[in-house]
Amino acid sequence: MASILVSGGRKIVGTARVSGAKNAALPILAATLIARGPVELTDCPHLSDVENMLKILRSLGVSCSLEAGTAHIDAAKAERCIMPQSISKEIRSSIFMLGPLLSRFGEAVCAYPGGCEIGHRPVDLHLKGLAALGADIREERGYIICDGHNMHGGEIHLDYPSVGATENIMMAAAAVTGDTVITNSAREPEIEELQNFLNSIGGDIRGAGTSTIYIKGGMEEVPAAAHRIMPDRIAAGTLMCAVAMAGGEAELTDVCPEHIGSLISKLREAGCHISCGRDTLEIRAKGRPKEIKLIETLPYPGFPTDMQAQIFALCTVADGTSVIVENLFENRFRHCAELIKMGANITQKDRTAIVRGVEKLSGAVVYAKDLRGGAALTIAGLGAEGMTAVENTEYIDRGYQRLDETLNSLGACGS
Ligand code: EPZ
Repeated sequence: MASILVSGGRKIVGTARVSGAKNAALPILAATLIARGPVELTDCPHLSDVENMLKILRSLGVSCSLEAGTAHIDAAKAERCIMPQSISKEIRSSIFMLGPLLSRFGEAVCAYPGGCEIGHRPVDLHLKGLAALGADIREERGYIICDGHNMHGGEIHLDYPSVGATENIMMAAAAVTGDTVITNSAREPEIEELQNFLNSIGGDIRGAGTSTIYIKGGMEEVPAAAHRIMPDRIAAGTLMCAVAMAGGEAELTDVCPEHIGSLISKLREAGCHISCGRDTLEIRAKGRPKEIKLIETLPYPGFPTDMQAQIFALCTVADGTSVIVENLFENRFRHCAELIKMGANITQKDRTAIVRGVEKLSGAVVYAKDLRGGAALTIAGLGAEGMTAVENTEYIDRGYQRLDETLNSLGACGS
């Protein structure tokens, strides 16, 4: 298992460009299956989750490459609708393939998806939405078997604004005959990004970013498409928490400040000075973070669950007590035990943690248990006395393009 060594006590100073968003790239890669012509995706991040998604596409007969941040995808010769279990159980986003496979081939077989073990992560809302579009779905021996030869438009109300279920239904509905309305849809920026991509390959979708999405069925023929993946709001937020923890000042470029409004508000509460441009953001932090009284994760535009672990690390050394409530996933506090090893004062029960800030953490050997928890431990190491070894950094590689190198380019010191 890989690891990184973080030496605490160094300030972060400099400029960093924010990479393309993992959680936009993954559904868009799935959606390339319904494109009629070749697709070029720029700012596509080099991540293990993206590599696994490309492996799934290749297993279906899609030709794809990713070099220097540009992915070239051509699904013209795609011919299979059964995804290999060996890969689909590795990542959550394999479930995103169901919608495109159904609309392309009228059938799909996939194993239950994998992904970070942050909770049970059922797929019932995905399957209920696809069934409402006419798919016949069976679950047998760990496989999801779908017959979509009679797919049609429909009206779907999501019991919960699930990001993945919203995306899966959008991709299935875009190519079938008949119109679809999704109500109580997720409003994350990645949903709007997927709408823009689907429309660029012949779809006719509107309303993404609100709680109601309108999809006109039937894709127009578009010979070829090019799309730039939007900046990763979570990668940007992670770097901002690193500055808040280590102190210093950084400029982020190619960032969408409007996508991280809730985080900016919390980091200002912690005493950071943050100024925003159209696609840049400057953050300055000095001394001990001030108390952030309450953090509750919520669907967008609420505080993002994918930033909970990172700001949690900051709260462990803040001048006061924080209450952190994780409303989306039932097992997303796995970084607590590791932070306690570093001297954090945490009381956690179920989905609530009470964090009493300490002056300083101490370096230790700690273990990443999931993607964002691994990033949080790296941030904690930046502010700790001495060296911190973060083990199992494969988790971090799922969602960050060499987080250690980015931080080192900003003056932190790790290896
Ligand atoms: C997406 O996961 C993201 N992953 C997650 O990011 C992110 O944490 C999550 O959205 C919430 O914002 C990708 O986009 C690849 P959900 P997803 O469906 O789609 C429940 C990261 O670190 N639910 O919105 O799986 C579910 O259990 C990752 O980058 C059902 O009950 O999230 C959870 O409690 C982690 N039934 C809640 O909804 C379903 O069918 C939110 O899940 C689907 C979801």
